[in-house]
Amino acid sequence: MQVAAISFDQFNALADADAQERIRAARAALGARAVLLCHHYQRADVYRHADITGDSLKLSRLAAGTSAEYIVFCGVHFMAEVADILSRPEQISILPDLAAGCSMADMANRAKVERCWRELASVLDPDEHVTPVTYINSAADLKAFCGEHGGIVCTSSNAPKILQWSFAQREKVLFFPDQHLGRWSGHKMGIPMDEMVVWNPDLELGGLTTEQIRKAKIILWYGYCSVHQMFQPRQIERFRQQHPDGFVISHPECSFEVCRNSDYVGSTETILRTVKEGAPNTRWLVGTELNLVERLAEEVKAEGKTVQFMADTVCMCSTMQRIDPQHLAWTLENLAAGNIVNRIAVPAHEAALAKVALERMLAAS
Ligand code: 13P
Ligand code: SF4
Repeated sequence: MQVAAISFDQFNALADADAQERIRAARAALGARAVLLCHHYQRADVYRHADITGDSLKLSRLAAGTSAEYIVFCGVHFMAEVADILSRPEQISILPDLAAGCSMADMANRAKVERCWRELASVLDPDEHVTPVTYINSAADLKAFCGEHGGIVCTSSNAPKILQWSFAQREKVLFFPDQHLGRWSGHKMGIPMDEMVVWNPDLELGGLTTEQIRKAKIILWYGYCSVHQMFQPRQIERFRQQHPDGFVISHPECSFEVCRNSDYVGSTETILRTVKEGAPNTRWLVGTELNLVERLAEEVKAEGKTVQFMADTVCMCSTMQRIDPQHLAWTLENLAAGNIVNRIAVPAHEAALAKVALERMLAAS
């Protein structure tokens, strides 16, 4: 029976040490009924409670495989949506703070993508010639759009493979919302730069000519991650001057110039694995979110490895950061008391279509 929810008010001012204690107690009370999935960008005081950590691909696979009643997602909104879509109907996906969104995901929405599809139809029949590909960092209704139009979802770790799948269906791709991941993945496949054009959703026909659209292999949505756009080629140049033997590794949400000047480019899971498997006493410059980089630096320092953050300023994913110990304690105590709070439930018709696109991805990657 659902009882009245415990209000967040009394948790807001909770001291960090008390929040930690209450998280531990609530977890002990819940036992195997709750599983805590944590993205690599989570802050240390939340990450330490994770049952499972990973990048978006790993977490979506594991969300589909977990048997717990409650999937508590310490990440951002689209991740909890994917967990809801891929888990069994009786499982409940929870996001400890509903304000934990993704600013890049918000750069595309269903109305704008549908308008793009309609405008493309003035040049060619998109359903015949274009495969829509959405980065997993997008709302469920965009995944549903892809499911409906013969398209697919990709993550940062499988994007080139997913593009191959997409070109096997139709000769063009509409890639949203991250232009950088789309461009880098297209480049890895050997697609020339002049066959990748940027669609600006605020301009008529995306700001493109009909000729540009006819010639394009990939139409890239004008979207980007505000965290990864802070990384610049000059930061890599400076590192290389100071440490000619050092290695540079970046996330594919970074700009093309940053990716091109890096020794390795990969998802958060790939970044962690590559640095951990690197030789002792090596030095690394890492272009991704600060929480991950700081944790990695600590983990590998005993092997004499030095890990440096790429940007000169602090750049964290401010929305991920919203999942703090206070919200986690509040969520878990409510669950332990029989109150379901902050449930993420994708409407059934949308979930069914989004699942088609996600399952295509899981099968193709
Ligand atoms: P990963 O899939 O590499 O973890 O990336 C998710 C993300 O949001 C990076 O900004
Ligand atoms: Fe979104 Fe960027 Fe945060 Fe990743 S780091 S969740 S892309 S805002």
